[in-house]
Amino acid sequence: MFHGESFGLEALGWLATIFIFIVGLFILFLAGVYIADITQTKHAIRRNYPVIGHLRYYFEHIGTFFRQYFFTMDREEMPFNRAQRSWVYRAAKDIDTTVAFGSTRDLRPSGSILFVNHPFPTLGKDAVEPREVTIGETYARQPYTTASIFNISGMSYGAISKPAVLALSYGAKKASGWMNTGEGGLSPYHLEGGADIVFQIGTAKYGVRDEAGNLSDDKLRQVAAHEQVRMFELKLSQGAKPGKGGILPAEKVSKAIAEIRGIPQGQDSISPNRHPEIASNDDLLDMIHHIREITGKPVGFKAVIGDSSWLDDLCETINRRGPEYAPDFITVDSADGGTGAAPQSLMDYVGLPIQESLPLVVDSLVNHGMRQRIKVIASGKLINPSEVAWALCMGADFIVSARGFMFALGCIQALHCNKNTCPTGITTHDVKLQKGLVAEQKSIRVHNYIKNIVHEVGIIAHSCGVRSPRELNRNHARIVLENGTSVSFGEIYPCKSSVH
Ligand SMILES: Cc1cc2nc3c(=O)[nH]c(=O)nc-3n(C[C@H](O)[C@H](O)[C@H](O)COP(=O)(O)O)c2cc1C
Repeated sequence: MFHGESFGLEALGWLATIFIFIVGLFILFLAGVYIADITQTKHAIRRNYPVIGHLRYYFEHIGTFFRQYFFTMDREEMPFNRAQRSWVYRAAKDIDTTVAFGSTRDLRPSGSILFVNHPFPTLGKDAVEPREVTIGETYARQPYTTASIFNISGMSYGAISKPAVLALSYGAKKASGWMNTGEGGLSPYHLEGGADIVFQIGTAKYGVRDEAGNLSDDKLRQVAAHEQVRMFELKLSQGAKPGKGGILPAEKVSKAIAEIRGIPQGQDSISPNRHPEIASNDDLLDMIHHIREITGKPVGFKAVIGDSSWLDDLCETINRRGPEYAPDFITVDSADGGTGAAPQSLMDYVGLPIQESLPLVVDSLVNHGMRQRIKVIASGKLINPSEVAWALCMGADFIVSARGFMFALGCIQALHCNKNTCPTGITTHDVKLQKGLVAEQKSIRVHNYIKNIVHEVGIIAHSCGVRSPRELNRNHARIVLENGTSVSFGEIYPCKSSVH
């Protein structure tokens, strides 16, 4: 036998031994899993189907991705379907948003919204840019005037990452839009991009609280001293979790976040489920008036609407006390709004969706003669031009979005916002995952998204025969009824002066 041949046989022998060793280890491992499965008492599937029962958890996990990529039709997914998301992705990349062949949207189911095209649409040369609207006119020392229809809704630094905040701040600045801080206070990253800022005051008053957790006038003054901070929003509730405060787990309360929020580092921070000092309409108006007096800037509140009679009570209280006590704006959030984490029961069942609450709010204001005094901001799954145009038809002065902007930043709807594992770096503080989110690049997408939304809402407006998105009114939108015919929103909500 040659020397080379004997070496080859020896190597083969070694390989066979290694192989048998690995197989042996694997069998031992399976035997271990088998014994663990049949002796444990918690999981019926594992006890009845030892070893292979584990596949169920794996398939359940990867099923989400398979459905998204292979099986779900364009209009099927929730909370946002592929057609909605794709529009945002293309708009954010500033690539062609036209589609071929025909609509994949079924126009017949009841509840579908249609716009009323005009026989003689507005010519491009007659179109006009959306006009400016002033919030806090007369009653705030520094009112806020902006033409920006579509802006960034509250998402705190904490719920979203540093590069996400930076990208939004730079992008909003480029698009001349505003960005809401969410309830986590004002970070240097909000300021860095230079955008206009709405400072949100949540129930824990992060960023403007004293050591006991009460509203601090000194801190309010400090925040208001930033020229970029243009308005203050008192958060009563948000659509995803009405009546529930947030919890920031200890591991997320880093030094930076603790400083910004004004809380001790490394301890759970729990927001109360209501502002403890606001238990009535009078309390609410007192607080709004106080913050406006201290800051000099417009002050409004954000809420998801439940009982509509509350709106009438609120308006009556304002009329009793005088317009100087009125909020300068109301942000109406839809019951199906998003969040970092919330109980499913609140997300799925509590509060009115924007389709019902927005016209109710606008009508209450009109009926009590406050439509000019109090501006209306709408949010909740208004991420495509058709949805934004609908909200304008209903009487909204501005539209804000959170998840639309997350898509613009690259969100793939992995539904991991409540973990620290967001694969696109938006809702995670894992710096390895944040690497994928390059703020400079994504800020361009944020800008493009705003620009293209406004452009395409303009296209709908021109098709309806008006010159600008702000001229849309309720007679321009119809809703399909159960019998398949449609009716104008102007007939359902015949509010003559809902125009903004
Ligand atoms: C990650 C994340 C964080 C949020 N944080 C806040 C917050 O701090 N304050 C708030 O009022 N709303 C918060 N929201 C709700 C949004 O501001 C918005 O009201 C809601 O998602 C509806 O808008 P959308 O459908 O465009 O996302 C958050 C939403 C998300 C997705």
